[in-house]
Amino acid sequence: MILRLAASRAPARAFPETPGGRSGLPPGQGVPRAVLLAKAGQWLYFASIMKLSNKLEKVLNDQINLELGSAYAYLGMAAYFERTPFTGFGKWMQVQTSEELGHAKRFFEYIVERGGKVTLQAIPEPKCDYKSPLDAFKASLGHEHKVSASICAIYELAAAEKDYPTLSFLKWFLDEQVEEERNVGDMLAKLELVGDNSNGLYQIDRQAAMRAAEKH
Ligand code: FEO
Repeated sequence: MILRLAASRAPARAFPETPGGRSGLPPGQGVPRAVLLAKAGQWLYFASIMKLSNKLEKVLNDQINLELGSAYAYLGMAAYFERTPFTGFGKWMQVQTSEELGHAKRFFEYIVERGGKVTLQAIPEPKCDYKSPLDAFKASLGHEHKVSASICAIYELAAAEKDYPTLSFLKWFLDEQVEEERNVGDMLAKLELVGDNSNGLYQIDRQAAMRAAEKH
């Protein structure tokens, strides 16, 4: 959108400023969010043509909260496993915690990139007690389904708004959710296979520890 405004009606200082540096101007000098051009006594303001809608800004902020909530939920599972002999599962959950923090940060940076306002919200208290490894991984898969559904809902909104940059941004998350659901699903399938067999649980726990080691 291009806004043509008379200079007297819309002085440059009326526009919020972004941090210096992105426009190529020296850092430390506030850069108007809109690019200002003079033409025949008029000012042309190229307002942020890629600015997020209010609706998208809200759901992307909600997603930051959901990702941070995921990190906290996995940390709660790690806390549970650290009180059991299954320290491999505990490490696996800690790796997952780090990944979720990374997801939250991606959304944070994307909102900033699009000139939006990041709004942080309270994170729900996580559960730190589970009946068994199977119980914890079942909760994990349920959580991933919730995250996947949320990302799909944002994708649908972005599609309805024809916000192509957001669709492009979300593509990484769609792929990531396939991987995450598969990782958790694989663990769950193995745990269901061995049931209460101690040797089987021990082997899966060792595998979980190896995955954690690969990630670090
Ligand atoms: Fe970031 Fe596991 O969803």
